[in-house]
Amino acid sequence: MKAAYFLVFFFLFSSFSSFSSALTDAEASFIARRQLLHFHAGHDLRGDHEYEVEVNLKFPHSRLRRAYVALQAWKKAIYSDPIKTTENWVGANVCAYTGVFCAPALDDPQLEVVAGIDINHADIAGYLPVELGMLSDIAVFHINTNRFCGIIPKSFARLTLLHELDVSNNRFVGSFPEVVLQIPNLKYLDLRFNDFEGKLPPELFNKELDALFLNNNRFTSTIPDTLGNSPISVLVVANNHLEGCIPNSIGKMVNNLNEAIFSHNKFAGCLPPEIGYLSNVTVFDVSSNTLSGLLSKTFKGLEKVEELNIAHNMLTGFVPKSLCKLPSLGNFTFSYNYFNGEDQECVPPSRKDTLFDDTSNCLPNRPKQKSAKQCQVVVNKPVDCGRAKCGGRPAPSKPSSPAPKEEPPKQQPPKEEPPKQQPPQEETPTLEPQPPKPELSPEPW
Ligand SMILES: *[C@@H]1O[C@H](CO)[C@@H](O)[C@H](O)[C@H]1NC(C)=O
Ligand SMILES: *[C@@H]1O[C@H](CO)[C@@H](O)[C@H](O)[C@H]1NC(C)=O
Repeated sequence: MKAAYFLVFFFLFSSFSSFSSALTDAEASFIARRQLLHFHAGHDLRGDHEYEVEVNLKFPHSRLRRAYVALQAWKKAIYSDPIKTTENWVGANVCAYTGVFCAPALDDPQLEVVAGIDINHADIAGYLPVELGMLSDIAVFHINTNRFCGIIPKSFARLTLLHELDVSNNRFVGSFPEVVLQIPNLKYLDLRFNDFEGKLPPELFNKELDALFLNNNRFTSTIPDTLGNSPISVLVVANNHLEGCIPNSIGKMVNNLNEAIFSHNKFAGCLPPEIGYLSNVTVFDVSSNTLSGLLSKTFKGLEKVEELNIAHNMLTGFVPKSLCKLPSLGNFTFSYNYFNGEDQECVPPSRKDTLFDDTSNCLPNRPKQKSAKQCQVVVNKPVDCGRAKCGGRPAPSKPSSPAPKEEPPKQQPPKEEPPKQQPPQEETPTLEPQPPKPELSPEPW
């Protein structure tokens, strides 16, 4: 009986999911295998001359010819193109292809070259062939909200002018795509809503990035201590399985960090007092982790913070006036913790234009609080943050060689429209359970 129900549910669910995504797991698996076969030569280009395939078309110059070869290889690596984005990817005029943008070459303004790819929201299924490394003039590569599978080929390291790489909301898998670390001029890196897993490499935070989106993947490591070296203004790592401390080095990001979102991970220990140095931060969210201990007095240094979310943790102690009176504060959520006191200034509705949420704490005389019994367990076991592994005194730095800061790029990347910092739109998958993922291991079929 139960089994029958399960089967019915399974069929409903699977037919619904294949209807909504138009790509079955078998197809996804097929594509991943094709890509792996295709990549037998070390996932990289084997020397450009091998790709000087016979093309009976005339091109104004060889750079457009190479772009043609790359784009045709990509078209072959596409298995489903429901809204026919690549239908007109035919013939020598690559600048007229949908989603392909040409501009004068940086080193030779007489030449029109392929400077950008933007096929966001095209719902295309396929993979990224190594030949894309031949698009050496591109500054922008945007393929968000498609169904690209597999990995990012090593040949992307050849894209020396690439400034923005947005592969968000696709079906990429595997460990962190280390190749992005070798793209010298990359400023905007968006990997969110994929199935990347494993560790974040420490070198990531030594890169001269401006925005980094890693949210909604399966990353499992700690955040490397190199974090503080990063010049990023926006960091989003929400909805992964990251653990350990929020590094003390975050305090070094005082001149650049504007938004930091750590929510829905497994970060633990005390919040480092150095967070209070971040006088330029406007959005700070560490909600839904297992953070404990008291709020540091230093946090009153968050002078520009507008949205502050520390909800759904195990924080204790008193929520001070200095925090609730911060001048730019618009929304401070500290619900679902174990605070047992708050300043009168923090009790909603104490400020006209500021939202406070103190639900489900251990606050006397406030509605919707935890029971005395629930509170007792945590409140009676205070954490000494001064001695804690996380948030305490910074550990003496280990002799492990800190990676040197990269030299500033010599070549100026072209000015493009400012990177969008909005999360992908409505159609972005949420936290709902997802259908099983394609298997990469070869199976009989
Ligand atoms: C904060 O941001 C402003 C402009 O947004 C900038 O001029 C300033 O150097 C930044 N750093 C600090 C520490 O305020
Ligand atoms: C305030 O912040 C909480 C937590 O981030 C969010 O759920 C809520 O929607 C915000 N409220 C407003 C009005 O922005």
